[in-house]
Amino acid sequence: MRFAFSLLLLSAEIVYAVSSTYKFDPLKHLAGIAPYFEPQDPELDPAPPQGCSVTRAAYLVRHAAIYANDFDYESYIEPFLQKLKNSTVDWRSTRALSFLETWQSPIADQDQEQLTLVGMLEAQALGVQMSQRYLGFKAPGKVWTSTAERTVKSAESLIEGLVRKKNTTTLIQISEGEEEGANSLTPYKSCPAYSSSRGSAFSSAFGKQYTTPIIARFKSEAPSFNFTSSDIIGMQELCGYETVIRGSSPFCSLSLFPPNDWLSFEYMNDLMYHQNTGYGNPASGVIGLPWLSSTAALLMEGNSSSAQDLYISFTHRELPPTVLVAMGLFNNSAFSASNDVNATMPNTVINHRRAWQSSRILPFLTNIAVEQMQCSSFGFEAGEYYRVSVNQSPQPLPGCADGPGESCSRSRFTKYLGERQDMFGGFSAKCGTKNGNSTDVLGIYTAG
Ligand SMILES: *[C@@H]1O[C@H](CO)[C@@H](O)[C@H](O)[C@H]1NC(C)=O
Ligand SMILES: *[C@@H]1O[C@H](CO)[C@@H](O)[C@H](O)[C@H]1NC(C)=O
Ligand SMILES: *[C@@H]1O[C@H](CO)[C@@H](O)[C@H](O)[C@H]1NC(C)=O
Ligand SMILES: *[C@@H]1O[C@H](CO)[C@@H](O)[C@H](O)[C@H]1NC(C)=O
Ligand SMILES: *[C@@H]1O[C@H](CO)[C@@H](O)[C@H](O)[C@H]1NC(C)=O
Ligand SMILES: *[C@@H]1O[C@H](CO)[C@@H](O)[C@H](O)[C@H]1NC(C)=O
Ligand SMILES: *[C@@H]1O[C@H](CO)[C@@H](O)[C@H](O)[C@H]1NC(C)=O
Repeated sequence: MRFAFSLLLLSAEIVYAVSSTYKFDPLKHLAGIAPYFEPQDPELDPAPPQGCSVTRAAYLVRHAAIYANDFDYESYIEPFLQKLKNSTVDWRSTRALSFLETWQSPIADQDQEQLTLVGMLEAQALGVQMSQRYLGFKAPGKVWTSTAERTVKSAESLIEGLVRKKNTTTLIQISEGEEEGANSLTPYKSCPAYSSSRGSAFSSAFGKQYTTPIIARFKSEAPSFNFTSSDIIGMQELCGYETVIRGSSPFCSLSLFPPNDWLSFEYMNDLMYHQNTGYGNPASGVIGLPWLSSTAALLMEGNSSSAQDLYISFTHRELPPTVLVAMGLFNNSAFSASNDVNATMPNTVINHRRAWQSSRILPFLTNIAVEQMQCSSFGFEAGEYYRVSVNQSPQPLPGCADGPGESCSRSRFTKYLGERQDMFGGFSAKCGTKNGNSTDVLGIYTAG
């Protein structure tokens, strides 16, 4: 039996080595509307390194999948739907577009910005995953969320998966107001140096370029529809939104949009996010630092009576990428000895080797974890170590990976935090906040 089994395995390996099958999944390239996935990037083991056990952890989580973001809906999807309603094209006579004859939009006006059922399920599943990962942890006394309904509902769903007795966990809602300084889970709203439209002109130049041949292709099938660049973008966005509502979408078909079209859609979004909340915006690290600093302080402090084993906070898509910049992760320039941010992502040609891929950085439910570990590993001093993971993949911190499994020793982590503070500290001054009562510190975890 054993012989037959290993022979079988062996032959499978040989076949695999001879011909690899090309596979492509558009859902992993949808940037801010990618359904949650864990890309194993890099392929490091999410389990604690040999000799280590996790003693505390903190998570920053984006809300789960929604029906449609207002901006996406109003700018791209709705105009396309309107045009489709008015059109007299006989879609049955087309090839790739023939599904439009009967297709109906899954997004009702009142559903916009609402969490989908898949979103609730995925948030709950993340809670269960945390409960299994941190078996010995106390249920968190508090979980924090910004006040928007989609963040609150995501937090409630996660709590349902995480704790069996819900009344032990209180959900604390944090104002999304514009005068909170650094003291909120939406600090970009209090930062005048941040503009939500930054990067859109730069990225839409690439959008125009990649949609031109797609428009020509669709026009050959339906000349009277007058497809525009915005229509194409709306159709690609519908792939993501329809999938998290109905479970699948004809807009995801590779015969409608082949892989090049998805990789271009993704790159256009990456350009925007890179300029908006990434390394291309000097305000990004400034906005992200307060969460890193106060989270590190919580994990590193002594065992006070209010200390939790697990800290979880829910926010919107803007905050996680800024925290990654504050941490120095997904930096296109890393190891390059240069810091020419724009050269790494031109808006005329795709840099397929970029580190900054928004599908991996800010899909729905994206989560950044900071874990404190006690380690006693071969070849390392016994003691406290820290490790960051993004969507379950460990991410070695720049200059802070001296521990087991590329984690960071407490003393090195302290030094690293000081370096990041020197780069990005001073929220109110660097943001140019106008209200005199602004603060540079995220104090919600220790308030009350
Ligand atoms: C659809 O038709 C209506 C009525 O003729 C018109 O007012 C509207 O502008 C049209 N919309 C589009 C997107 O063509
Ligand atoms: C939570 O609910 C359970 C069952 O309803 C009850 O026995 C327990 O006392 C409650 N705990 C708190 C902290 O309110
Ligand atoms: C500053 O004052 C405004 C108006 O009273 C208040 O809403 C805001 O929370 C305050 N900000 C801070 C950081 O205390
Ligand atoms: C096609 O769309 C473009 C861009 O919106 C517009 O300028 C043009 O007038 C439209 N042409 C027709 C025939 O509707
Ligand atoms: C906190 O308590 C845990 C468990 O009792 C212990 O392992 C850890 O060393 C303590 N940490 C500090 C900083 O006192
Ligand atoms: C990105 O990497 C470059 C090259 O190592 C470095 O100079 C720069 O400071 C890094 N950016 C951030 C925000 O960490
Ligand atoms: C990078 O490009 C953007 C968009 O053109 C521009 O706003 C920004 O100033 C450039 N940054 C640098 C450092 O040249």
